[in-house]
Amino acid sequence: MTQSIALVGPGDRQLEQMLRGRGFAIVPWLERDLAFRSQQASASVQFLMLDLRAEPRFPASLEAFRRQHPSVPVFLVVSTLDPAVMLQAMRAGVHECLQYPFSDADLDAAIFRLTAARDSAPGGDVFAFLGAKGGVGATTAAVNVATELARLKPGGVLLVDLHLAYGDAAVYLAAESKFSIADALENTHRLDSAFLKSLCVRTKAGPELLASPDRNITLHVDAGRVRTLIEAAARHYRYVVLDLCRHDPAVLDGLDPVRKMVVIANQELATVRAANRMATTLNQRYGKERVLVAVSRYDPNAGIVQEDIERVVGTKIRHLLPSDYRVALEALNTGRPLALSNQTKLAGALKVLAHELAEVTTDPPPSASGRSIFGRLTGRS
Ligand SMILES: Nc1ncnc2c1ncn2[C@@H]1O[C@H](COP(=O)(O)OP(=O)(O)OP(=O)(O)O)[C@@H](O)[C@H]1O
Ligand SMILES: [Mg+2]
Repeated sequence: MTQSIALVGPGDRQLEQMLRGRGFAIVPWLERDLAFRSQQASASVQFLMLDLRAEPRFPASLEAFRRQHPSVPVFLVVSTLDPAVMLQAMRAGVHECLQYPFSDADLDAAIFRLTAARDSAPGGDVFAFLGAKGGVGATTAAVNVATELARLKPGGVLLVDLHLAYGDAAVYLAAESKFSIADALENTHRLDSAFLKSLCVRTKAGPELLASPDRNITLHVDAGRVRTLIEAAARHYRYVVLDLCRHDPAVLDGLDPVRKMVVIANQELATVRAANRMATTLNQRYGKERVLVAVSRYDPNAGIVQEDIERVVGTKIRHLLPSDYRVALEALNTGRPLALSNQTKLAGALKVLAHELAEVTTDPPPSASGRSIFGRLTGRS
């Protein structure tokens, strides 16, 4: 597969030729492209190269880009190894520094080091869901995103119900579990792969589940234990989805390993305001590029519409999960997440959300009736 590399700099045919010779597709970027991508869920490239030979000045948005896309390795090309620039590069999270002119072998070695480091890097992606108020649909979103990710990565997804007691993700997945996060949080000193796996159950829908306990946890849970649990989960699973309790400060303070936090709102004024407060707090604590707001049970005919919510929360809403109580309730009552079927707009919207979080290309959304009238008339789908 061709790998694409974004090249920020004045442009140099010889350098471009070397990269093409190694199978890279080159995407020339200006600094504003880097700034733009720092705000996007997808980097759209697999590597980034900064050519600072003409001017050893780091783009202001490099740090934000690195935070947003930690899996994209960054090369630096310089004409001299100036210690001040090197220090800045280290601070900005640059992975490889190449002093120009360099040979094909030097470039190959740098690419090899980066690719090997990336492929062996511990840590799957962690996505967290948080309802702005009770009953808005946070667990529904978490369960269905986990289910869709498990379709993409069978055996590689863990859903953690981080309600310290009486969470209901297990009900949504018709799962019964002897163990729970209580066992994990009480034993963070021995959370290796075997122990963690022994606490999880495999669900019919695909994701494994680390359930919420049906008892109160005996010890005091602090943010450190929550963080350790999330890190352990991310070491062993490609994707970890968290269903969070908004009332627990220890949980909300332990989210450093989380890549994206999704605040679920609806169209009630009080909930929209609560979503704004919650998103603001998370923005301040973890950086606004990690926080997004989605609206569940969306009804385009309601008094408060997408634009109103965007005005209050101060950010674009890219995910509207349509209101479909019958389908949502049936999925809940049968313990069969609605993302397992492709037949409804709600399932389609939840899948799109999962795909955006995982940065994978989305299948075209299904039409509500599966096949169009035109398709049925002509026999084409
Ligand atoms: N898009 C939707 N359209 C209609 N009903 C929905 C939708 N999403 C969820 N529901 C329903 O809303 C109810 C609450 O959903 P859910 O448990 O996901 O909310 P929650 O935010 O996790 O609640 P809690 O605060 O209790 O954790 C359920 O009956 C669910 O089936
Ligand atoms: Mg819930």
